[in-house]
Amino acid sequence: MRREDLQLRYNEWHRQRLGEAPDIDPRQLAFFDWLLDLVHPAPSADLLDVACGQGEFLSYAAGRGLRVSGVDLSDLAVEAARRRVPAAEVRVGEAESLPFEADSFDLVSCLGSLEHFPDPVASAREMQRVLKPSGEALIFVPNLFFLGHIWFGLRRGTQPTEGGQSFSEVYRSSEGWRDLLVQAGLTVREFHPWNHIYATNRVSPAATRFWNLVSRAVPRNGAYAFAFICTRG
Ligand SMILES: C[S@@+](CC[C@H](N)C(=O)[O-])C[C@H]1O[C@@H](n2cnc3c(N)ncnc32)[C@H](O)[C@@H]1O
Repeated sequence: MRREDLQLRYNEWHRQRLGEAPDIDPRQLAFFDWLLDLVHPAPSADLLDVACGQGEFLSYAAGRGLRVSGVDLSDLAVEAARRRVPAAEVRVGEAESLPFEADSFDLVSCLGSLEHFPDPVASAREMQRVLKPSGEALIFVPNLFFLGHIWFGLRRGTQPTEGGQSFSEVYRSSEGWRDLLVQAGLTVREFHPWNHIYATNRVSPAATRFWNLVSRAVPRNGAYAFAFICTRG
């Protein structure tokens, strides 16, 4: 898909979410706590959130004392992020060609987005480029073999998908994501499964509660999603 068309699709996607509650859901806050505690950034570290959307994570990270920057393809999302976090430097741009200098950031995050980029390898390579030599990348991606996707696949033959972005979405397994990140030149230091689901309208609240109850017993490679912690390599 051409960049202009993808931007239009994402502007439309964001437009439908602009009216949503400005406060961050407490369950999302708990998720952000978990994510940032995986990397323990130094106070006032420089963070770049790639595909920052409407700035929820930027707002959270600024609240934890980080100096925050963001980039997103959607100019509508960027405007919303600037309103939400006036202190942040937020730019419109493509993950495949980040509008930031090399060696600039202590931490680069990319949350629930690498699977949507037309060229995820080029994007991960760009994350590596803008990291400082001692920097870390925190990359959160969905699992192709999440048991819920397999259930839907068996019942309905559907592709794994979340959040109405099937116009640009490719999922991978844990090893598939690792290979991609390594291909981009990053070194994968560790990865962690994330299994708590709180925002889906594909299954009933009862089914979601059941999953969250039993998810501790789910094998790592059947988890909902993974957080990869990478260094520049
Ligand atoms: C699922 S949303 C995630 C947003 C945010 N990271 C979050 O967790 O809420 C995917 C985001 O990727 C952005 N996006 C899609 N393709 C992009 C690209 N090639 N470069 C930069 N941003 C892109 C979209 O505009 C959208 O904001």
